[in-house]
Amino acid sequence: MSTSDHATRRTEPLPFPAGFRVGAATASYQIEGAAAEDGRGVSIWDTFSHTPGKVRGGDTGDVACDSYHRYRDDAALLAELGLASYRFSISWPRIRPDGRGTVNQKGLDHYKAVVEALLERSIEPVATLYHWDLPQVVEDEGGWAARSTAEAFAEYAGIVAEALGDVVGKWITMNEPQVSANHGYRTGEHAPGLRDEVKAAAANHHLLLAHGLALEVLRGVLPGGTPVGITLDLHPVRPGADGIEELVAMVDAEQNGCYLEPVLHGRYPTAARPHMVPGAPVVRDGDLERIHAPIDFLGVNYYSPLYVRYGAWNALVGGEAPRPGHPGVVSYAPPGFERTAMGWLVDPEGLYELLHRLADERPGLPLYVTENGCAAEDYLATDGQVHDPERVKYLHLHLDACARAAADGVPLHGYFVWSLLDNFEWAWGFQKRFGIVFVDFSDRRRVVKDSARFVAQVAATGAVPPFPEHWPR
Ligand code: FCB
Repeated sequence: MSTSDHATRRTEPLPFPAGFRVGAATASYQIEGAAAEDGRGVSIWDTFSHTPGKVRGGDTGDVACDSYHRYRDDAALLAELGLASYRFSISWPRIRPDGRGTVNQKGLDHYKAVVEALLERSIEPVATLYHWDLPQVVEDEGGWAARSTAEAFAEYAGIVAEALGDVVGKWITMNEPQVSANHGYRTGEHAPGLRDEVKAAAANHHLLLAHGLALEVLRGVLPGGTPVGITLDLHPVRPGADGIEELVAMVDAEQNGCYLEPVLHGRYPTAARPHMVPGAPVVRDGDLERIHAPIDFLGVNYYSPLYVRYGAWNALVGGEAPRPGHPGVVSYAPPGFERTAMGWLVDPEGLYELLHRLADERPGLPLYVTENGCAAEDYLATDGQVHDPERVKYLHLHLDACARAAADGVPLHGYFVWSLLDNFEWAWGFQKRFGIVFVDFSDRRRVVKDSARFVAQVAATGAVPPFPEHWPR
Protein backbone atom coordinates (compact mmCIF):
# COMPACT_ATOMS: atom_id res chain seq x y z
CA MET A 1 0.00 0.00 0.00
CA SER A 2 1.47 3.38 -0.89
CA THR A 3 1.57 6.15 1.65
CA SER A 4 -1.20 8.05 -0.04
CA ASP A 5 -3.50 4.99 -0.08
CA HIS A 6 -2.69 4.46 3.53
CA ALA A 7 -3.32 8.11 4.32
CA THR A 8 -6.78 8.04 2.82
CA ARG A 9 -7.87 4.92 4.66
CA ARG A 10 -6.82 5.14 8.26
CA THR A 11 -9.36 6.90 10.43
CA GLU A 12 -8.23 5.63 13.84
CA PRO A 13 -4.96 6.28 15.68
CA LEU A 14 -2.36 3.60 14.97
CA PRO A 15 -0.89 2.45 18.29
CA PHE A 16 2.72 1.52 18.96
CA PRO A 17 3.32 -1.69 20.89
CA ALA A 18 3.40 -1.37 24.69
CA GLY A 19 6.75 -0.10 25.95
CA PHE A 20 7.63 1.73 22.70
CA ARG A 21 9.78 4.75 23.55
CA VAL A 22 9.54 8.09 21.77
CA GLY A 23 12.58 10.30 22.33
CA ALA A 24 14.83 12.92 20.81
CA ALA A 25 18.49 12.93 19.79
CA THR A 26 21.40 15.39 19.72
CA ALA A 27 25.21 15.21 19.46
CA SER A 28 27.92 16.86 21.54
CA TYR A 29 29.66 19.05 18.95
CA GLN A 30 26.35 20.12 17.45
CA ILE A 31 24.85 21.48 20.68
CA GLU A 32 27.32 21.88 23.54
CA GLY A 33 29.51 24.88 22.75
CA ALA A 34 31.91 25.61 25.66
CA ALA A 35 34.64 24.54 23.29
CA ALA A 36 37.48 25.76 25.47
CA GLU A 37 35.97 25.19 28.90
CA ASP A 38 36.75 22.87 31.77
CA GLY A 39 39.75 21.27 30.15
CA ARG A 40 38.14 20.14 26.88
CA GLY A 41 40.68 19.28 24.18
CA VAL A 42 40.45 20.30 20.55
CA SER A 43 38.42 18.06 18.23
CA ILE A 44 38.67 17.60 14.47
CA TRP A 45 35.46 19.60 14.13
CA ASP A 46 37.00 22.58 15.93
CA THR A 47 39.87 22.54 13.47
CA PHE A 48 37.67 21.94 10.45
CA SER A 49 35.05 24.56 11.30
CA HIS A 50 37.75 27.13 11.95
CA THR A 51 39.29 26.46 8.53
CA PRO A 52 37.96 29.07 6.10
CA GLY A 53 35.66 27.69 3.42
CA LYS A 54 34.78 24.43 5.13
CA VAL A 55 31.51 25.37 6.84
CA ARG A 56 28.76 27.62 5.50
CA GLY A 57 29.00 31.15 6.80
CA GLY A 58 32.14 30.29 8.74
CA ASP A 59 29.94 28.88 11.50
CA THR A 60 31.60 26.90 14.29
CA GLY A 61 30.45 24.89 17.30
CA ASP A 62 32.25 27.23 19.73
CA VAL A 63 28.95 28.19 21.37
CA ALA A 64 26.35 26.23 19.34
CA CYS A 65 23.19 25.84 21.48
CA ASP A 66 25.19 26.41 24.66
CA SER A 67 23.83 23.13 25.96
CA TYR A 68 26.97 22.61 28.02
CA HIS A 69 25.52 25.28 30.31
CA ARG A 70 21.85 24.86 29.50
CA TYR A 71 21.50 21.08 29.79
CA ARG A 72 18.97 21.50 32.60
CA ASP A 73 16.77 23.61 30.29
CA ASP A 74 17.09 20.90 27.65
CA ALA A 75 16.10 18.21 30.15
CA ALA A 76 13.15 20.36 31.22
CA LEU A 77 12.07 20.65 27.57
CA LEU A 78 12.23 16.88 27.12
CA ALA A 79 10.12 16.48 30.24
CA GLU A 80 7.63 19.12 29.10
CA LEU A 81 7.22 17.21 25.85
CA GLY A 82 6.75 13.94 27.72
CA LEU A 83 9.62 12.21 25.91
CA ALA A 84 10.78 8.92 27.36
CA SER A 85 14.44 8.87 26.21
CA TYR A 86 17.18 11.28 25.26
CA ARG A 87 20.00 10.23 22.94
CA PHE A 88 23.01 12.50 23.44
CA SER A 89 26.68 11.98 22.70
CA ILE A 90 29.78 12.19 24.81
CA SER A 91 32.68 14.27 23.60
CA TRP A 92 35.91 12.23 23.62
CA PRO A 93 38.09 15.39 23.88
CA ARG A 94 36.21 16.46 27.02
CA ILE A 95 37.05 13.15 28.68
CA ARG A 96 40.58 12.70 27.33
CA PRO A 97 41.80 16.01 25.93
CA ASP A 98 44.87 14.33 24.45
CA GLY A 99 42.95 11.35 23.14
CA ARG A 100 44.94 9.03 25.35
CA GLY A 101 46.49 9.61 28.74
CA THR A 102 45.08 12.06 31.26
CA VAL A 103 41.43 11.75 32.16
CA ASN A 104 39.63 15.05 32.63
CA GLN A 105 37.41 14.62 35.67
CA LYS A 106 35.46 17.78 34.83
CA GLY A 107 34.38 16.19 31.57
CA LEU A 108 33.06 13.12 33.35
CA ASP A 109 31.35 15.31 35.97
CA HIS A 110 29.56 17.21 33.24
CA TYR A 111 28.00 14.09 31.75
CA LYS A 112 27.13 12.79 35.21
CA ALA A 113 25.22 16.03 35.78
CA VAL A 114 23.48 15.68 32.39
CA VAL A 115 22.42 12.14 33.23
CA GLU A 116 21.20 13.18 36.68
CA ALA A 117 19.12 15.98 35.19
CA LEU A 118 17.49 13.39 32.92
CA LEU A 119 16.94 10.76 35.59
CA GLU A 120 15.37 13.32 37.94
CA ARG A 121 12.75 13.79 35.26
CA SER A 122 12.39 10.05 34.54
CA ILE A 123 13.98 10.37 31.10
CA GLU A 124 16.14 7.47 29.99
CA PRO A 125 19.70 8.57 29.08
CA VAL A 126 20.98 6.91 25.88
CA ALA A 127 24.66 7.74 25.37
CA THR A 128 26.54 7.63 22.06
CA LEU A 129 30.28 7.36 22.60
CA TYR A 130 31.35 8.69 19.22
CA HIS A 131 29.43 11.23 17.18
CA TRP A 132 32.32 12.51 15.10
CA ASP A 133 34.31 14.73 17.47
CA LEU A 134 37.64 12.91 17.37
CA PRO A 135 40.40 14.53 19.46
CA GLN A 136 42.63 16.46 17.04
CA VAL A 137 45.77 14.90 18.49
CA VAL A 138 44.45 11.46 17.58
CA GLU A 139 43.83 12.64 14.03
CA ASP A 140 47.37 14.01 13.91
CA GLU A 141 48.58 10.51 14.74
CA GLY A 142 46.70 8.99 11.81
CA GLY A 143 43.04 9.36 12.80
CA TRP A 144 40.67 6.62 11.76
CA ALA A 145 43.08 5.51 9.05
CA ALA A 146 45.26 4.16 11.90
CA ARG A 147 44.48 1.05 13.91
CA SER A 148 45.73 2.67 17.11
CA THR A 149 42.71 5.02 17.02
CA ALA A 150 40.37 2.06 17.44
CA GLU A 151 42.41 0.94 20.45
CA ALA A 152 42.38 4.45 21.97
CA PHE A 153 38.61 4.62 21.47
CA ALA A 154 38.08 1.37 23.35
CA GLU A 155 40.11 2.74 26.28
CA TYR A 156 38.09 5.94 26.32
CA ALA A 157 34.86 3.91 26.15
CA GLY A 158 35.97 1.95 29.21
CA ILE A 159 36.66 5.14 31.18
CA VAL A 160 33.24 6.55 30.42
CA ALA A 161 31.53 3.24 31.19
CA GLU A 162 33.32 3.03 34.58
CA ALA A 163 32.03 6.50 35.44
CA LEU A 164 28.49 6.30 34.07
CA GLY A 165 27.79 2.59 33.72
CA ASP A 166 25.25 2.46 36.49
CA VAL A 167 23.20 5.44 35.34
CA VAL A 168 23.07 5.37 31.53
CA GLY A 169 20.19 3.29 30.17
CA LYS A 170 21.62 2.25 26.80
CA TRP A 171 24.95 2.67 25.04
CA ILE A 172 25.68 3.30 21.39
CA THR A 173 29.32 2.85 20.42
CA MET A 174 29.42 4.69 17.10
CA ASN A 175 27.24 7.00 15.09
CA GLU A 176 27.20 6.42 11.33
CA PRO A 177 30.67 5.04 10.56
CA GLN A 178 29.75 5.35 6.87
CA VAL A 179 29.59 9.12 7.10
CA SER A 180 32.79 9.34 9.17
CA ALA A 181 34.71 7.21 6.67
CA ASN A 182 33.27 8.55 3.43
CA HIS A 183 32.65 12.21 4.19
CA GLY A 184 35.65 12.55 6.49
CA TYR A 185 38.26 10.65 4.47
CA ARG A 186 36.92 10.13 0.91
CA THR A 187 35.03 13.27 -0.17
CA GLY A 188 36.46 15.62 2.46
CA GLU A 189 33.12 17.35 3.09
CA HIS A 190 33.43 16.63 6.80
CA ALA A 191 36.29 16.76 9.28
CA PRO A 192 39.11 15.91 8.97
CA GLY A 193 38.50 16.82 5.31
CA LEU A 194 40.76 14.27 3.60
CA ARG A 195 40.29 12.94 0.07
CA ASP A 196 42.09 9.66 0.11
CA GLU A 197 40.56 6.37 -1.09
CA VAL A 198 43.08 4.22 0.76
CA LYS A 199 42.64 6.02 4.05
CA ALA A 200 38.86 5.99 3.63
CA ALA A 201 38.76 2.19 3.29
CA ALA A 202 41.06 1.85 6.31
CA ALA A 203 38.90 4.30 8.28
CA ASN A 204 35.84 2.23 7.41
CA HIS A 205 37.43 -0.80 9.01
CA HIS A 206 38.94 0.94 12.03
CA LEU A 207 35.65 2.63 12.92
CA LEU A 208 33.99 -0.78 12.94
CA LEU A 209 36.90 -2.31 14.80
CA ALA A 210 36.58 0.48 17.37
CA HIS A 211 32.98 -0.60 17.83
CA GLY A 212 34.07 -4.23 18.29
CA LEU A 213 36.87 -3.41 20.73
CA ALA A 214 34.67 -1.03 22.71
CA LEU A 215 31.93 -3.65 22.86
CA GLU A 216 34.36 -6.06 24.52
CA VAL A 217 35.43 -3.44 27.05
CA LEU A 218 31.87 -2.33 27.77
CA ARG A 219 30.74 -5.90 28.37
CA GLY A 220 33.45 -6.18 31.01
CA VAL A 221 32.63 -2.92 32.75
CA LEU A 222 28.86 -2.37 32.49
CA PRO A 223 26.39 -4.04 34.82
CA GLY A 224 25.14 -7.28 33.24
CA GLY A 225 22.22 -6.79 30.91
CA THR A 226 23.00 -3.15 30.00
CA PRO A 227 22.06 -2.86 26.32
CA VAL A 228 24.83 -1.88 23.90
CA GLY A 229 24.41 -1.28 20.18
CA ILE A 230 25.68 0.66 17.18
CA THR A 231 23.95 3.23 15.00
CA LEU A 232 24.19 2.94 11.21
CA ASP A 233 22.84 5.32 8.58
CA LEU A 234 20.99 3.19 6.07
CA HIS A 235 19.65 4.15 2.69
CA PRO A 236 17.41 1.93 0.58
CA VAL A 237 18.94 2.04 -2.90
CA ARG A 238 16.51 2.22 -5.78
CA PRO A 239 17.03 1.82 -9.52
CA GLY A 240 16.38 4.74 -11.81
CA ALA A 241 15.63 2.44 -14.75
CA ASP A 242 15.12 -1.22 -15.52
CA GLY A 243 18.09 -3.47 -16.08
CA ILE A 244 20.50 -1.89 -13.63
CA GLU A 245 20.15 -4.37 -10.79
CA GLU A 246 23.90 -4.84 -10.74
CA LEU A 247 24.47 -1.14 -10.15
CA VAL A 248 21.89 -1.12 -7.37
CA ALA A 249 23.51 -4.14 -5.72
CA MET A 250 26.92 -2.46 -5.91
CA VAL A 251 25.77 0.85 -4.47
CA ASP A 252 23.78 -0.93 -1.76
CA ALA A 253 26.87 -2.97 -0.84
CA GLU A 254 29.05 0.13 -0.64
CA GLN A 255 26.56 2.38 1.12
CA ASN A 256 24.92 -0.09 3.49
CA GLY A 257 26.59 -3.48 3.18
CA CYS A 258 30.08 -2.31 4.16
CA TYR A 259 28.64 -1.60 7.64
CA LEU A 260 25.67 -3.93 8.00
CA GLU A 261 27.40 -7.08 6.84
CA PRO A 262 30.43 -6.91 9.15
CA VAL A 263 28.21 -6.09 12.14
CA LEU A 264 25.44 -8.58 11.43
CA HIS A 265 27.36 -11.33 9.64
CA GLY A 266 31.09 -10.85 10.23
CA ARG A 267 32.06 -10.27 6.58
CA TYR A 268 32.47 -7.48 4.04
CA PRO A 269 30.15 -7.54 1.02
CA THR A 270 31.28 -9.10 -2.24
CA ALA A 271 29.19 -6.83 -4.49
CA ALA A 272 31.16 -3.68 -3.53
CA ARG A 273 34.08 -2.57 -5.68
CA PRO A 274 37.42 -3.74 -4.28
CA HIS A 275 38.79 -0.30 -3.39
CA MET A 276 35.76 0.41 -1.21
CA VAL A 277 36.19 -2.73 0.85
CA PRO A 278 38.88 -2.96 3.48
CA GLY A 279 41.17 -5.94 3.12
CA ALA A 280 44.52 -7.24 4.42
CA PRO A 281 46.77 -5.95 5.91
CA VAL A 282 44.26 -3.48 7.41
CA VAL A 283 41.86 -6.28 8.26
CA ARG A 284 43.60 -8.71 10.61
CA ASP A 285 42.65 -12.17 11.77
CA GLY A 286 39.96 -11.98 14.39
CA ASP A 287 38.80 -8.44 13.54
CA LEU A 288 35.58 -9.46 11.87
CA GLU A 289 34.68 -11.78 14.74
CA ARG A 290 35.05 -8.85 17.12
CA ILE A 291 33.00 -6.54 14.92
CA HIS A 292 30.39 -9.25 14.66
CA ALA A 293 30.15 -9.88 18.43
CA PRO A 294 26.52 -9.89 19.61
CA ILE A 295 24.83 -6.53 20.03
CA ASP A 296 21.65 -5.92 21.99
CA PHE A 297 20.06 -3.61 19.43
CA LEU A 298 20.73 -1.93 16.14
CA GLY A 299 20.21 1.82 15.84
CA VAL A 300 18.93 2.94 12.45
CA ASN A 301 19.28 6.47 11.16
CA TYR A 302 16.96 7.05 8.22
CA TYR A 303 16.35 10.20 6.23
CA SER A 304 15.77 9.24 2.59
CA PRO A 305 16.35 6.59 -0.07
CA LEU A 306 18.98 6.80 -2.78
CA TYR A 307 17.97 6.63 -6.43
CA VAL A 308 20.81 5.84 -8.80
CA ARG A 309 21.23 5.66 -12.55
CA TYR A 310 23.98 5.61 -15.10
CA GLY A 311 24.62 8.93 -16.78
CA ALA A 312 26.52 12.17 -16.66
CA TRP A 313 25.87 14.55 -13.81
CA ASN A 314 23.95 17.64 -14.79
CA ALA A 315 24.60 20.26 -12.14
CA LEU A 316 21.65 22.28 -13.42
CA VAL A 317 19.16 19.60 -12.43
CA GLY A 318 18.12 19.95 -8.79
CA GLY A 319 18.68 16.89 -6.65
CA GLU A 320 21.30 15.34 -8.91
CA ALA A 321 24.73 14.54 -7.56
CA PRO A 322 27.66 12.52 -8.79
CA ARG A 323 28.32 9.37 -6.76
CA PRO A 324 31.67 9.89 -5.07
CA GLY A 325 34.20 7.44 -6.49
CA HIS A 326 31.70 6.18 -9.03
CA PRO A 327 32.31 7.85 -12.39
CA GLY A 328 29.33 7.59 -14.71
CA VAL A 329 26.80 7.10 -11.93
CA VAL A 330 24.55 9.77 -10.50
CA SER A 331 22.11 9.86 -7.66
CA TYR A 332 19.03 11.88 -8.41
CA ALA A 333 15.60 12.91 -7.22
CA PRO A 334 12.82 11.38 -9.29
CA PRO A 335 9.89 13.68 -9.95
CA GLY A 336 6.87 13.29 -7.70
CA PHE A 337 8.66 13.29 -4.36
CA GLU A 338 8.62 16.17 -1.95
CA ARG A 339 12.08 17.24 -0.82
CA THR A 340 13.25 18.78 2.43
CA ALA A 341 15.32 21.93 2.87
CA MET A 342 18.39 19.68 2.50
CA GLY A 343 17.10 18.57 -0.91
CA TRP A 344 16.54 15.09 0.51
CA LEU A 345 13.59 13.05 -0.77
CA VAL A 346 10.66 12.56 1.54
CA ASP A 347 9.88 8.85 1.37
CA PRO A 348 8.48 7.18 4.49
CA GLU A 349 8.07 3.92 2.57
CA GLY A 350 11.87 3.74 2.47
CA LEU A 351 11.85 3.53 6.27
CA TYR A 352 9.08 0.95 6.31
CA GLU A 353 10.96 -1.24 3.82
CA LEU A 354 14.24 -0.81 5.62
CA LEU A 355 12.79 -1.93 8.95
CA HIS A 356 11.36 -5.03 7.29
CA ARG A 357 14.66 -5.75 5.56
CA LEU A 358 16.53 -5.61 8.87
CA ALA A 359 13.96 -7.76 10.62
CA ASP A 360 14.31 -10.34 7.84
CA GLU A 361 18.08 -10.16 7.85
CA ARG A 362 18.49 -10.59 11.63
CA PRO A 363 15.20 -11.89 13.01
CA GLY A 364 14.54 -10.84 16.57
CA LEU A 365 17.30 -8.21 16.85
CA PRO A 366 15.72 -5.22 18.61
CA LEU A 367 15.71 -2.11 16.41
CA TYR A 368 15.53 1.56 17.31
CA VAL A 369 15.20 4.42 14.89
CA THR A 370 17.95 6.50 16.48
CA GLU A 371 17.53 9.43 14.05
CA ASN A 372 14.85 10.61 11.68
CA GLY A 373 13.75 14.14 10.90
CA CYS A 374 13.95 16.94 8.40
CA ALA A 375 15.40 20.37 7.85
CA ALA A 376 12.89 23.12 7.11
CA GLU A 377 13.03 26.87 6.71
CA ASP A 378 11.70 27.71 10.14
CA TYR A 379 11.33 31.18 11.54
CA LEU A 380 9.86 32.88 14.54
CA ALA A 381 6.42 34.11 13.44
CA THR A 382 4.81 37.35 14.57
CA ASP A 383 2.71 35.38 17.04
CA GLY A 384 5.93 34.35 18.78
CA GLN A 385 5.53 30.74 17.63
CA VAL A 386 7.35 28.57 15.12
CA HIS A 387 4.95 26.87 12.73
CA ASP A 388 6.66 24.07 10.85
CA PRO A 389 4.00 22.20 8.88
CA GLU A 390 6.60 20.53 6.62
CA ARG A 391 8.25 18.89 9.63
CA VAL A 392 4.93 17.95 11.24
CA LYS A 393 4.00 16.18 8.01
CA TYR A 394 7.40 14.53 7.64
CA LEU A 395 7.34 13.22 11.19
CA HIS A 396 3.71 12.13 10.94
CA LEU A 397 4.45 10.06 7.82
CA HIS A 398 7.61 8.50 9.24
CA LEU A 399 6.12 7.72 12.64
CA ASP A 400 3.25 6.11 10.78
CA ALA A 401 5.75 3.98 8.82
CA CYS A 402 7.30 2.91 12.13
CA ALA A 403 3.94 2.08 13.71
CA ARG A 404 2.97 0.02 10.65
CA ALA A 405 6.25 -1.91 10.71
CA ALA A 406 5.88 -2.55 14.45
CA ALA A 407 2.27 -3.69 13.92
CA ASP A 408 3.56 -6.16 11.30
CA GLY A 409 5.82 -7.67 13.98
CA VAL A 410 9.10 -5.88 13.23
CA PRO A 411 10.90 -5.68 16.62
CA LEU A 412 11.06 -1.89 16.67
CA HIS A 413 11.26 -0.60 20.23
CA GLY A 414 11.68 3.13 19.91
CA TYR A 415 12.06 6.24 17.78
CA PHE A 416 14.28 9.26 18.36
CA VAL A 417 13.53 12.39 16.40
CA TRP A 418 16.52 14.23 15.01
CA SER A 419 16.76 16.64 16.64
CA LEU A 420 15.63 18.05 19.95
CA LEU A 421 17.17 21.41 19.01
CA ASP A 422 18.17 23.36 15.93
CA ASN A 423 21.93 22.97 16.00
CA PHE A 424 25.26 23.05 14.18
CA GLU A 425 24.48 20.98 11.09
CA TRP A 426 28.09 20.08 10.23
CA ALA A 427 29.23 21.59 6.92
CA TRP A 428 25.93 23.50 6.70
CA GLY A 429 26.51 25.28 9.98
CA PHE A 430 23.40 26.86 11.51
CA GLN A 431 21.78 27.35 8.14
CA LYS A 432 19.86 24.07 8.29
CA ARG A 433 17.40 23.68 11.13
CA PHE A 434 16.42 20.14 12.15
CA GLY A 435 15.04 20.82 15.65
CA ILE A 436 11.56 20.26 17.00
CA VAL A 437 12.60 23.12 19.26
CA PHE A 438 13.73 26.34 17.62
CA VAL A 439 16.94 27.98 18.82
CA ASP A 440 17.39 31.69 18.34
CA PHE A 441 21.13 31.79 17.77
CA SER A 442 21.37 35.42 18.81
CA ASP A 443 20.56 34.60 22.43
CA ARG A 444 20.17 30.77 22.45
CA ARG A 445 16.54 31.07 23.52
CA ARG A 446 14.52 27.91 22.86
CA VAL A 447 11.00 28.04 21.37
CA VAL A 448 8.91 24.89 21.08
CA LYS A 449 7.81 24.35 17.45
CA ASP A 450 4.48 22.88 16.31
CA SER A 451 6.34 19.68 15.44
CA ALA A 452 7.41 19.27 19.08
CA ARG A 453 3.75 19.42 20.08
CA PHE A 454 3.00 16.77 17.49
CA VAL A 455 5.74 14.47 18.80
CA ALA A 456 4.50 15.12 22.35
CA GLN A 457 1.01 14.02 21.30
CA VAL A 458 2.41 10.77 19.85
CA ALA A 459 4.43 10.18 23.02
CA ALA A 460 1.45 10.88 25.28
CA THR A 461 -1.01 8.68 23.41
CA GLY A 462 1.44 5.96 22.32
CA ALA A 463 -0.16 6.14 18.89
CA VAL A 464 0.12 7.95 15.56
CA PRO A 465 -3.04 9.94 14.84
CA PRO A 466 -4.90 9.61 11.53
CA PHE A 467 -3.71 11.98 8.84
CA PRO A 468 -5.39 15.37 8.72
CA GLU A 469 -8.42 15.91 6.50
CA HIS A 470 -6.71 18.61 4.47
CA TRP A 471 -3.90 16.37 3.20
CA PRO A 472 -4.13 15.52 -0.49
CA ARG A 473 -6.06 12.30 -1.11
C1 FCB B 1 23.05 12.53 10.50
C2 FCB B 1 23.93 12.87 11.68
C3 FCB B 1 23.34 13.93 12.58
C4 FCB B 1 22.65 15.03 11.80
C5 FCB B 1 21.69 14.45 10.79
C6 FCB B 1 20.92 15.47 9.99
O1 FCB B 1 23.84 12.01 9.47
O2 FCB B 1 24.16 11.73 12.46
O3 FCB B 1 24.36 14.42 13.40
O4 FCB B 1 23.56 15.87 11.23
O5 FCB B 1 22.38 13.60 9.91
